[in-house]
Amino acid sequence: MITDYKGLKAVVTGGANGIGKAFALGFAERGADVLVVDIHPDEAAAVAAEIRKLGVQGYSIGADVSLKEECKKIYDKTVEVFGRCDILVNNAGVSASGDFTNIPERDIRWVYEVNVFSHWFMLGYFLPMMEAQNEHAQIINVCSIAGLITSPASPTYFSSKHAAVALSEVLYKELKAKGSKIDVSIFAPGFVATEMHLTDRHRPPRYAINDDPYYHDEAYAKQLEISKYVTTTGEPLDKVMDKVFEMLGTECFYILTHDKYDGILRAQGEFQANKTRPVELSDVSVKATL
Ligand SMILES: NC(=O)c1ccc[n+]([C@@H]2O[C@H](COP(=O)([O-])OP(=O)(O)OC[C@H]3O[C@@H](n4cnc5c(N)ncnc54)[C@H](O)[C@@H]3O)[C@@H](O)[C@H]2O)c1
Repeated sequence: MITDYKGLKAVVTGGANGIGKAFALGFAERGADVLVVDIHPDEAAAVAAEIRKLGVQGYSIGADVSLKEECKKIYDKTVEVFGRCDILVNNAGVSASGDFTNIPERDIRWVYEVNVFSHWFMLGYFLPMMEAQNEHAQIINVCSIAGLITSPASPTYFSSKHAAVALSEVLYKELKAKGSKIDVSIFAPGFVATEMHLTDRHRPPRYAINDDPYYHDEAYAKQLEISKYVTTTGEPLDKVMDKVFEMLGTECFYILTHDKYDGILRAQGEFQANKTRPVELSDVSVKATL
């Protein structure tokens, strides 16, 4: 566990907006030097400039973390500017809401590549370096409460976040088993007020909205509206991030900032142990809060 971030070197993916930007600035405010990674190079550069105003080093790189070769670029840049990495935040994430029968395969691939594959790729490059440093280091994989519970919607997003959680749990256990000094945490928030509903803005060219009628249908527009509502009415970002930094200073693997889900998490464990059926929201009186 790291409690003093002064002089440490942090890399934050998806660091140009929302939660990633808050992580980047939060570590910088606490004295760390930060490399901001984002698919939008100009926006990442703007955050790096804000970071430098805080009196620490701020660098940026434009990269698409869903591609292995781009993650190699991020690793090379880290080696060039910092020569090491003490804190890695795998935060970049996207969502697509289509259901089982209508979602285009390309959207499933996009969501999985950003939300899950990027964690594999980044860890593949950064873990060996962080292990070789043989000093305390911290990996934070930004998942979601959607990685711990499910709802009757957004199968792609929920299943990708479950995969990201499982990946992080296995990593944690493997590192602990070999006595590694690298700590792992997952951040699994409920809705947070960011601009995540504008997720289509972050599509790489190969997954850009095309002339498939799916994207131009009323149902798609409706999904975006719902997404806008639930995101913009989420918990205030600064309040959530205060909790995150508080919890990072404790022995805490699951960084859970939305206590209202505790009931469903407990109920889910019981339902699973009782071998009955997946917990339904109506079973645990949290329906109104989801
Ligand atoms: N906002 C919420 O309610 C919420 C809830 C739970 C989990 N999360 C998770 O938190 C993380 C951040 O979400 P946010 O709300 O800040 O979203 P956001 O859309 O505001 O920010 C995401 C950032 O990631 C970047 N990004 C997207 N694809 C990328 C790629 N391929 N390569 C590099 N950068 C890329 C975007 O450019 C953007 O800067 C995501 O993993 C998301 O799933 C968000």
